Amino acid sequence: MTKPMRTAAPAWEHPSGYDLLRNPRLNKGTAFTEAERRAWGLEGLLPPAVTSMELQVARRHAEIANLDDDLQKYLVLSDMQARNETLYYAVLMSDPATYMPLVYTPTVGEACQKFAHIFRTARGMYLPISARGRVKELLANWPEQDVRFIVVTDGERILGLGDLGAGGMGIPLGKLSLYTACAGVPPRYCLPIVLDVGTNNQTLLDDPLYQGLRQQRVRGEEYLAFVDEFVAAVQQRYPKCCIQWEDFANLNAVPILARYRDKICTFNDDIQGTAGVALAGIVAALRLTGQKLADQRFLFLGAGSAATGIAELISLAMAREGADLATARQRNALFDINGLVVSSRTDLAAFQKPFAQDRAPVSTFVDAVEALRPTGIIGVSTVPKLFTHEVIQAMARINERPIIFPYSNPTSRSECTAEEAYRWSDGRAVFASGSPFPPIEIAGRRFVPGQGNNVYIFPAMGMAVFATEATRVTEEMFIVAAQAVAEQVTEEDLAMGLIYPPQSHILDASLHVAERIATCIFDQGLAQMPRPTDVGLLIRERVYRPLYPE
Ligand code: NAI
Repeated sequence: MTKPMRTAAPAWEHPSGYDLLRNPRLNKGTAFTEAERRAWGLEGLLPPAVTSMELQVARRHAEIANLDDDLQKYLVLSDMQARNETLYYAVLMSDPATYMPLVYTPTVGEACQKFAHIFRTARGMYLPISARGRVKELLANWPEQDVRFIVVTDGERILGLGDLGAGGMGIPLGKLSLYTACAGVPPRYCLPIVLDVGTNNQTLLDDPLYQGLRQQRVRGEEYLAFVDEFVAAVQQRYPKCCIQWEDFANLNAVPILARYRDKICTFNDDIQGTAGVALAGIVAALRLTGQKLADQRFLFLGAGSAATGIAELISLAMAREGADLATARQRNALFDINGLVVSSRTDLAAFQKPFAQDRAPVSTFVDAVEALRPTGIIGVSTVPKLFTHEVIQAMARINERPIIFPYSNPTSRSECTAEEAYRWSDGRAVFASGSPFPPIEIAGRRFVPGQGNNVYIFPAMGMAVFATEATRVTEEMFIVAAQAVAEQVTEEDLAMGLIYPPQSHILDASLHVAERIATCIFDQGLAQMPRPTDVGLLIRERVYRPLYPE
């Protein structure tokens, strides 16, 4: 038997030849210099011309811009990530406003729906409940020795699209890309995970290409025991790791967060990140209306994890302005599929009760608007078009500057469009949505709709936690983050109706927010390192830059 020409390189040895070209972290593609090509056995394996990274980025911009279909663009980007990670981040970071909607919402929604059909190569980790008792063993297969950030989903409530089972992997993948692209968390510390406990989506179960466990979702004690095992395994292998829960259904999201939030470094972005970004929008909106937070009244369409998370954070922020917390909660009313959340209802979950109003039931949203006279309405129902003409007209009658936030994702689930909100309020709405809407002109006036995208909060939270090695993620950190986002909105932004900083400068914005959060972490005594004299420098020193390794 002849000896194989090439044996797998030992872990400590720099890969060469094709192994190097196929190592996404080290690959530079056509940017390998002639000296590097000689040193690493690449001569003849690449076309002879050496391309600069700037040219490589320009090539990808042109390729992607020429495609008509966003899902195709998503695939080009994710192939690039699998091939050349540095170039992928260089492309994303060169124009985040263009690329964020492609690697995350709204495009990622379609990618998750079609995940098995567009699957190319395995990325991240799949932990199936069938491996119960062996999670630690599976986790040991991940090649990185130091992981600081895990985004994990069980795929049950992907954006507003429902149960997509193992296809939910698109969410941790996309989200972690944003941790890096928007706040500089180094990608090697990031790990995307799907906890596969089955799916109740019959279309997926009937699809021969479906890649997850072919069974109904496991619930109850067995489910929780599996989550416990996962958390313990992560703690053991990666003790400095923060776990971010993502797109779990309400029935699990709230209890999971409650179970771990005071024990480990963890947060739920749907609940706390959403709350942070909504609060940021409100704080900026109040700069427009000139009012105080404690004087606001909000009515939420939806009473799920996003709604109650936002309502609670707003209540805490109102309490910081001197309001009593119970009274503050009463200024945040919820309206769900069964009507206004009132205390006489018998179907309320514990996390909804603090917001229940002591009044007669109200069955339509517009009647609830008339009854409560809110200063703002926030849509987190997953149901499109529920902010009707009548609702927005009523808000515009009650308020000089009504706050209208249709936050349901993706765009197809938005409670109203930007145009509807501006048109039906005679241009007076202070508007922000979950998914982006393009700028519009109505009667010669230009409106730039803001996107209440969690991306203003979670990457910065990740960077601050990473840089300080924080032991917990607290509500105070989200309030500080919201204020840090809002203070970056300029007077010019506000004049156009824009209540979030432009996404084109997201890295700078996130680093500012991260510095403020990190300061709060040190103030709260939650950092696992001595306080530096310059917290901003601590953050900047740890930022990932998409530069090829020498
Ligand atoms: P959830 O499933 O926990 O809650 C949905 C709520 O809407 C439930 O209370 C339900 O009763 C209510 N609802 C459903 N149909 C209704 C109807 N016809 N009328 C009134 N209420 C109705 O979902 P979750 O996690 O709270 O998310 C909701 C939405 O918020 C999703 O579309 C999600 O994408 C979006 N979201 C947006 C974020 C952002 O833009 N920053 C961040 C997180 C979530």
